[in-house]
Amino acid sequence: MASTAALRHLVRLADLEQSEVDSILELSSKIRREGTKEALNGKTIGLLFFRRSLRTRVSFEAAIGQLHGHPIDLNSSSDFWDLEDREGRVMDGIAPEHVCDAATVLSRYVDLIAIRTRLSGNSWSTDRLDAGIRSWANHADVPIINMESALWHPLQTLADLMTLREHFGSLKKRKLTIVWTHSPTAASPSVVNSLLHATIRSGMQVRLAHPTGYDLDPEVLQEADSICAQSEGSYEVSNKLPEAVDGAEVVYGRSWWSLDDYGNPTLAANRRARHTDWKVDPKLLALGEDAHFMHAMPVRRNLEVTDSVLDGPESLVYQQAENRLHSQKALLLHFLGRSS
Ligand code: CP
Repeated sequence: MASTAALRHLVRLADLEQSEVDSILELSSKIRREGTKEALNGKTIGLLFFRRSLRTRVSFEAAIGQLHGHPIDLNSSSDFWDLEDREGRVMDGIAPEHVCDAATVLSRYVDLIAIRTRLSGNSWSTDRLDAGIRSWANHADVPIINMESALWHPLQTLADLMTLREHFGSLKKRKLTIVWTHSPTAASPSVVNSLLHATIRSGMQVRLAHPTGYDLDPEVLQEADSICAQSEGSYEVSNKLPEAVDGAEVVYGRSWWSLDDYGNPTLAANRRARHTDWKVDPKLLALGEDAHFMHAMPVRRNLEVTDSVLDGPESLVYQQAENRLHSQKALLLHFLGRSS
């Protein structure tokens, strides 16, 4: 199903020009307001999950169905062979198939492949290479969309930008504080990496608040510095809560692993236990300027954020989750070259 048009992938949001992001977001809002035609009629899309998902899986499958395309949803634990993603290996391990063969074959069946990759969880220096998603992008003959890898979660960020724009209109000079939250099931920093870059690129003034030892990947921060130099956006890092929320218009909660303890659950648990006070409650939110609350979910109620904040009028979390549906429809139409 490969076409002669230049093949493009979405591993991270920076793979799109800002003008393309703007146009996808405009289309997302139009789709939310007006609905869509049967714009993916005849298109087949493969969804490959190497990790669990609720929102991404259901919103993507629903988006494709509502556009009258055909989703094929596959789970690595039950539906296909273990895959090798390292090049040139003697394949004498568990995996009986290489990504290069799976990607080439699937490209002959489907029009686009979306993938949520698995993390080893053992070594950040290995996981940060995002070899899983990059290997698919190297070998596929159809667009590859990243449904979350170790480093990036572009689909979540698209929905986040859509939600922020619905709330503020222009994002320039708006104040966002991203707050690390305490959770025993912390995630990779993918959501925060993508959000940080995209919001600075949109001209927001971002504070990244986390306890010591939860610094983002140095290359992600270096790139954030470069984006600041080329945009009206800015960011600063703070290890102080509640000060970091002072004046914030949006507080975005997220728990992520300490990269210092990556692969060592005992050290990670010990470090985490020192920061149980990193939780969003009404008192913290009140330090902002009419601050609203966002979270990519799943969220641990009354551990990361209180019920009163999540269920209160300041919460944008369900709008955020709903916008996954609209923004992914717009993204699919962008990639598959059809207007709604
Ligand atoms: N926010 C998000 O990606 O949710 P899932 O992990 O449930 O897909």
